[in-house]
Amino acid sequence: MTDPRMTTVHVPLGERAYDVLIGQGLIGQAGLLIAPVLHRPRVAILTDETVAGLHLAPLQKALQASGIDSAALALPAGEATKGWPHLTQAVEWLLEQRVERRDVVVALGGGVIGDLAGFAAAILRRGVRFVQIPTTLLAQVDSSVGGKTGINSAQGKNLIGAFHQPSLVLADIDVLDTLTPRDFRAGYGEVAKYGLLGDAGFFEWLERHGPDLAADPALRQQAVAHSVAMKAGIVSRDETEQGERALLNLGHTFGHALEAATGYSDRLLHGEGVAIGCALAFDLSARMGLCSQEAPSRVLAHLRAMGMPARLSDIPGDLPDDDALIALMGQDKKVVDGKLRFILARGIGEAFVSDDVQVDMLRRVLAEAR
Ligand code: GLY
Repeated sequence: MTDPRMTTVHVPLGERAYDVLIGQGLIGQAGLLIAPVLHRPRVAILTDETVAGLHLAPLQKALQASGIDSAALALPAGEATKGWPHLTQAVEWLLEQRVERRDVVVALGGGVIGDLAGFAAAILRRGVRFVQIPTTLLAQVDSSVGGKTGINSAQGKNLIGAFHQPSLVLADIDVLDTLTPRDFRAGYGEVAKYGLLGDAGFFEWLERHGPDLAADPALRQQAVAHSVAMKAGIVSRDETEQGERALLNLGHTFGHALEAATGYSDRLLHGEGVAIGCALAFDLSARMGLCSQEAPSRVLAHLRAMGMPARLSDIPGDLPDDDALIALMGQDKKVVDGKLRFILARGIGEAFVSDDVQVDMLRRVLAEAR
């Protein structure tokens, strides 16, 4: 039976293909939805303490209603969890739970838990399957789909990891009601990114409807489903980021540098860094003569209309100087043969990868954005 409140996006990756289900009330149906991917009625859930307080009991109840037993480990909430110590803790806990090769790990949480649990599943017994239940907008539209898993190290974000596709993703848009407005808006940075990188029509739709998404579940479902469908298309054509998938990093070279410069703290959330990064990428594109000035002006106006940070001056506190920021960009994973790679744009919805950015241009764009 098709549930009208649910949209299915298929990620066609051959033997690693899976569905992303997007809709209301999915956690309440989790037992029914997850049962088809299980070999035995038992799962191990990795989550964080904040999400556990909100969504773990309903999830376990829904699993139990379908006869599925579950054990759960709640790690501390926050980016600092995404490192070796908690990865070790998670993997050892999964072994203690006697999770076997054919079992399934469930990741219940935002991007931190999804990335860490996915990586734990990738390395446990050389790879067990996992199901993503993303609980933030950012995780629903980006990190839970596409199989990038991993942890951070002292040298930078996401530098240790593996491609490991989930077997199923359940994006329950009702859980987004529990996000703070700031977290919701931060996730929106990734939604806007899809329009900016490859779909001008979607960006226009967001210009019209973006401010209503937080309050309107039908619009929210459309926005999540459209974003996931775009990501599924890109991932299916370029699973391991040999080319097109790099477009998903629009705004991220700037964003990662700003996150590092602010100590991965509350001063700047990941999605906020991406939003500022998208604005800077369009500024840089216009300055290099690749697109008209109208494009960065529209990006800036839309981010402002959404109440999002869009400029370096919107980040509270001092930032390092341009040289230090540019050095941080050099640590980005997208460095190839020591050259900085940026995702630039010929217009809204027309992003491309460039290895051809002059540091002088970059300095001028950063100076203007301060
Ligand atoms: N978040 C970027 C990607 O999945 O490729």
